[in-house]
Amino acid sequence: MIKKDKDYRVKITESPGATSVSYGTNDQFLIRGLASKRLLKGKVPIRGSKNAILPVMASSILFKKAITARNVPRIEDVLRMSELLNLLGASPLYAPEKRTLIIHGEKIKNPTLDTEIAKRLRASIILSGPLLARFKKVSFPYPGGCVIGKRPIDLFIEGFKKMGARVIEKDERFFLTAPKGLSGAKIFFKVQSVTATETFLMAAVLAKGKTVLKNVALEPEVTSLAEFLSANGAIISGIGGTTLEITGGGLLTPLVDYKTIPDRLEAGSFLILGALTSNNLEVTDCNPEHLESLIETLSELGVKLNVGKNNIRVLGIEKKKNLGQIQVKTHEYPGFPTDLQAPLVVLLTQLEAESVVFETIFEGRLSYTEDLKSMGANITIWDSQRVLVKGKTALKDRELHGPDIRAGLAFIIAAIIAKGDSIVNNVYYIDRGYEQIEDRLKAIGVDITRRLRPNPEVFAPGKK
Ligand code: EPU
Repeated sequence: MIKKDKDYRVKITESPGATSVSYGTNDQFLIRGLASKRLLKGKVPIRGSKNAILPVMASSILFKKAITARNVPRIEDVLRMSELLNLLGASPLYAPEKRTLIIHGEKIKNPTLDTEIAKRLRASIILSGPLLARFKKVSFPYPGGCVIGKRPIDLFIEGFKKMGARVIEKDERFFLTAPKGLSGAKIFFKVQSVTATETFLMAAVLAKGKTVLKNVALEPEVTSLAEFLSANGAIISGIGGTTLEITGGGLLTPLVDYKTIPDRLEAGSFLILGALTSNNLEVTDCNPEHLESLIETLSELGVKLNVGKNNIRVLGIEKKKNLGQIQVKTHEYPGFPTDLQAPLVVLLTQLEAESVVFETIFEGRLSYTEDLKSMGANITIWDSQRVLVKGKTALKDRELHGPDIRAGLAFIIAAIIAKGDSIVNNVYYIDRGYEQIEDRLKAIGVDITRRLRPNPEVFAPGKK
């Protein structure tokens, strides 16, 4: 059961009276900084991955019967996707205490995406593939750009055309039809795209004949979706590689539940926090294999890590004298993730070194550095995709306005190491991707309080 009030506080309850999940759009965090002292310690458990569960939720449309997902994080984006699926008719049932989600994709009758919610959730685009494949038509609004960049959808439109769909765009809405159903096709993605790969992988499962997807994204979330579909009878080869071959067939029968993989971006952010604030912080319930590029980068910077099978312990940082000029370039997986770029920049402000950071995936993902500068960081913005960071600079308390999920978490990290009491606004963004982050921060010693922002400006939840 899903309820929504005018403030976008959403409640999903297992049954009337059960625990509900509800966050406000105008919450803010008050954080008392540690003034660079290494005082945090303890364990941080990592929750299920946002970017893994969202496509799996969409994949429910490919099934004859309800699917069950476990280890589902209690985050806003799961609620948004549940709302969309609920409006389509899939009656999602979420038990937050058990972190279990059941979705009846088989009950969907009408493949039309709600404009308001779809526009606020960029990932809504992944519903287009399975809906079009199953219903031979789909209609969705242009998901738009957002604070991190333009976010085009050309790969989606071109790919659907190759699979035989007719595309009409009218009043910022797309109407796709394929009266005879989608046909298998060869699709080469000119850029690697996570959500485009997921969308066409799902569409191909119900298309006629064979689909070959080339230059696909290699992110663990893509592989996890492919493995889930394959375990439930989809015929997919090449999983984990750059070419996927899918032989289309009928609707899938659920055979195995989905267990959401650990969120590598959340784990990575806590490792960076540990590098800055702790000599003994253990990140648990994670998959270190998904974090190789960060582990390599942190080790080069002198961060002492003890890497286990499902956990990583941060044991402090060596003072390395000759770090030279540090170069960080974001890259598709397995390269350095764009989603960890902002937390890493906070770390770079605390090293005695010069670092050049090149954001290659999204052209608008360095705007948050202005706020770090206002805290005292020495950052020169060369252009919209490159900055020079000179450390080490003490950070001062400030009131910050997180522009997106990942920069929002970077601001929390910056506020924790700063001197004084900082405020991080737009907590809504952080809630979209991180489950009750303040509880886990408090448990390792952070002085953090959530409160309603006094005199909030009119706030329009953004798109992602
Ligand atoms: N691109 C195109 N045309 C398209 C689609 C993408 O040119 O039709 C370009 C993008 O502009 C970008 C590049 O392809 O330059 C890669 O973007 P991608 O499509 O992979 O991004 P996405 O699928 O929209 C996912 C994650 C993002 C994450 C990126 C990169 C989900 C729901 N979102 O986005 O996560 O940053 O991959 O890894 O999986 C977040 O969680 O905060 C977030 C933004």
